[in-house]
Amino acid sequence: MANKWSDRFDEPTSDIVKRYSASVGFDFRLALVDIQGSMAHAQMLNKQKIITKKDLTDILRGLKLIQKEVERGQFQWSIDDEDVHLNIEKRLIAIVGEAGKKLHTGRSRNDQVATDMRLWLRGVIDQHLIQLGNLQKKIIQLAEKHIDTIMPGFTHLQVAQPVSFAHHLMAYFEMLQRDKSRLIDARKRTNQLPLGAAALAGTSYAIDRKYTAKLLKFDGVAENSMDAVSDRDFLIEYNACASLIMTHLSRFSEELILWSSDFFNFVEISDGFCTGSSIMPQKKNPDIPELVRGKVGRVNGHLVALLTLMKAQPLSYNKDNQEDKEPIFDVADTLLDTLEIFAEMIDKLQVKPINMEHAAIKGYATATDLADYLVKKGLAFRDSHGVVAKAVKYAIKQELNLADLSLSELQKFSKLIDQDVYKSLTLKGSLNARKHVGGTAPIAVKRAIQKAKLLL
Ligand code: ARG
Repeated sequence: MANKWSDRFDEPTSDIVKRYSASVGFDFRLALVDIQGSMAHAQMLNKQKIITKKDLTDILRGLKLIQKEVERGQFQWSIDDEDVHLNIEKRLIAIVGEAGKKLHTGRSRNDQVATDMRLWLRGVIDQHLIQLGNLQKKIIQLAEKHIDTIMPGFTHLQVAQPVSFAHHLMAYFEMLQRDKSRLIDARKRTNQLPLGAAALAGTSYAIDRKYTAKLLKFDGVAENSMDAVSDRDFLIEYNACASLIMTHLSRFSEELILWSSDFFNFVEISDGFCTGSSIMPQKKNPDIPELVRGKVGRVNGHLVALLTLMKAQPLSYNKDNQEDKEPIFDVADTLLDTLEIFAEMIDKLQVKPINMEHAAIKGYATATDLADYLVKKGLAFRDSHGVVAKAVKYAIKQELNLADLSLSELQKFSKLIDQDVYKSLTLKGSLNARKHVGGTAPIAVKRAIQKAKLLL
């Protein structure tokens, strides 16, 4: 027999409505932070003499027992009680009786769920910060081995200029560094306590919100009760941060996929991150980077879902907000796994320096250096660009590299060219010339790595 929601109702809740509106199937994940929040709330109620010491003792005893049940996977979740909050409250009353009925004094599920989400997200952000640092560490470790490894740098995916492989890797260090600072910033706005806002208007009990905030290690209390129960900006900000992190990792993934193909053959992704083909015995497919690239879709999709969820929502709390959970849980799960797996994959990446260098030589990567050489001899850059374009065209026809052309051949393009030109045409010479801050010269890259290490 279906029950009525409460005595306010004449008709029972149908099974389909129960199933449609229940969130316990996914918000049970908030159980531990929900208990944490309830413990702090009860302590505050007692400090303010709203409940007795005996009530508090009973409540804490019951909540601790529930915590154990949850941790051991023994807690019996029931869709009859809609969500994580009602499930836990009902169990508390079953364990400790009268005192359990007093826990919900001066609060509502509206400020409770907002508090839970913030506590939960704060923990996730802290994990990501450690994970991002760990991935950066792996990137630095790989970079340190390849300061002198020369590869072609690309623009438009065409060979552009030679760069140090370490320099290329350190570009991702920078992206992840920005990602960390964005998360740290988002954490500040996440770490504000909604509790005390109650349903929307605050409460008539003499509560001490700052005390609850202190117990729960929040940086402060949400200043407006209506904003406190309805705001989900912090989830959107987090999702946006996650989208950017996934975007960065998808760019890295795309490069690993290209580099591990036979045409590039710059790297070998360790077997553990690849799979074979059920039909083509020779295949080793870069599944993990492909999946990372693919999973950006769901993370970005959730961002749009959350933005759409909040759009035009009137103040204050609306049940719409229950729809914030599945997307954000999925974003967190995806990002937690992706960051962990990515760090391992980078740690085990095999690099093929000879193939990289070969590709840089083949691609006329030092043409700009020849142009710069002529400028230093007095030619205007636009003119020297034209001279070198002709020289490259000639070299392509002869199927030679620029450095393979004889001095007299080169001099046909400009009388300013001398024996010392060959220094500029080598990959090493090209790299070494770019030794300013942010440049790809090994000496500059070494400095960048030292600086990066200090940031970890
Ligand atoms: N399960 C709800 C949610 O996730 C909790 C808050 C419900 N509040 C209410 N007044 N129905 O948002």
